[in-house]
Amino acid sequence: MQVLTNLVSNAWKYTPEGGKITVRAFQTNGRVRVEVIDTGLGISPEDQSKLFTQFFRSEAPQVREQTGWGLGLNVTKKLVEIMDGEIGFSSALNEGSVFWFSLPLA
Ligand SMILES: Nc1ncnc2c1ncn2[C@@H]1O[C@H](COP(=O)(O)OP(=O)(O)OP(=O)(O)O)[C@@H](O)[C@H]1O
Ligand SMILES: [Mg+2]
Repeated sequence: MQVLTNLVSNAWKYTPEGGKITVRAFQTNGRVRVEVIDTGLGISPEDQSKLFTQFFRSEAPQVREQTGWGLGLNVTKKLVEIMDGEIGFSSALNEGSVFWFSLPLA
């Protein structure tokens, strides 16, 4: 629940009004994969390389308009890994982002 909340919170914070957020889930090979897709600000290649680092926040003005500590993704990655999961993303600046995680089925 914390993982999903963090990812949806980011999608909400970093998608300007009029954008779209999609959450979907699939079951494959004994795992569940959840995707949070947004049509928001997107993330530059330079920022992508630091994304899961503690306290990292983009310098982009539209990001800095929102409050945050730069902790959400760092904690999210640790939580996923504790549960034997995997986490990843793909993003293009000004186009949007997809964050996903997968977990073994209980
Ligand atoms: N969906 C997204 N779209 C665009 N940028 C994102 C998205 N998710 C994360 N980011 C970028 O990654 C940075 C780190 O995200 P993270 O969730 O760790 O911190 P935060 O949202 O700034 O603060 P908080 O600690 O409250 O979560 C963000 O500041 C932003 O620059
Ligand atoms: Mg966050």
